[in-house]
Amino acid sequence: MKRVEGKVALVTGAAGGLGSAAARMLAREGAKVVVTDRGNREKEGQEVAASLGEGMGLFLPLDVTKEDHWAQAMERTLAHFGRLDVLVNNAGMGIPKDIESLSLEEWRLVHAVNLDGVFLGCKHGIRAMRQCGAKGSIINVSSVAGLKGVPTLVAYGSAKGAVRMFTKSVALHCAQKGYGIRCNSIHPVFIETDMVAALANASGDPDKARAKMARSIPLGRIGEPDDFAHAVIYLASDESKLMTGSEFVLDGGTTAQ
Ligand SMILES: NC(=O)c1ccc[n+]([C@@H]2O[C@H](COP(=O)([O-])OP(=O)(O)OC[C@H]3O[C@@H](n4cnc5c(N)ncnc54)[C@H](O)[C@@H]3O)[C@@H](O)[C@H]2O)c1
Repeated sequence: MKRVEGKVALVTGAAGGLGSAAARMLAREGAKVVVTDRGNREKEGQEVAASLGEGMGLFLPLDVTKEDHWAQAMERTLAHFGRLDVLVNNAGMGIPKDIESLSLEEWRLVHAVNLDGVFLGCKHGIRAMRQCGAKGSIINVSSVAGLKGVPTLVAYGSAKGAVRMFTKSVALHCAQKGYGIRCNSIHPVFIETDMVAALANASGDPDKARAKMARSIPLGRIGEPDDFAHAVIYLASDESKLMTGSEFVLDGGTTAQ
């Protein structure tokens, strides 16, 4: 028996990076996966969906900041696969600026993707899970930046910190209502994806920047996308059935310091 056999999962921002790693591992562990991302990443998203195997994947365009996209994605997921058991609110972006350099427009954009997107995902995800009677698992991707201050990522840290608290309220609501739907947040440290590449490149000396990132982590290395995917499998599977409103910290010891 595979660990998420028979479940249907939807992953946002899954055309690359951590989302695609999670989609691939979910499929390997037996889930059918709706791979979603913004329309401009359709080609990559289609490739990820096709790589999951015959009948295991479906790509849908979904900009997480747009409520009508969420409504359509849920409708099409239920029509195509008949249910929704796992929602990974993974889509995210950051603007590496501090409080003195960030504009109001940039602040709003970062919160729209990282926070509004998670709010809309939970709202529509719970509705879809209830519609099909699934005792589902919602996994909200926060960050170590949602647990400790990062002066150079002021809006990102604010949005990710809000995702952490929002997750707890959603978890308690679902528990009190007796839905059987769980909701947890994941807090990764640096993991090698386009996001980390952009941060490293912005420094002007990517190798030096990566070495500095690795040194800041007690275990001494930047994470791999599958480190994240393994955590997703645990939270998506029934193995974590006692876990809701929790923070899954995946940080190589960073916040233990
Ligand atoms: N990589 C890391 O070091 C790291 C660490 C902590 C947290 N995270 C979080 O993990 C998640 C995935 O990050 P990643 O490293 O894979 O980044 P990435 O940049 O490689 O991928 C992010 C994906 O989100 C998508 N996206 C952006 N805006 C969107 C929108 N409005 N609607 C739908 N999709 C959108 C992008 O198209 C992209 O495919 C993010 O929430 C990020 O904040 C990453």
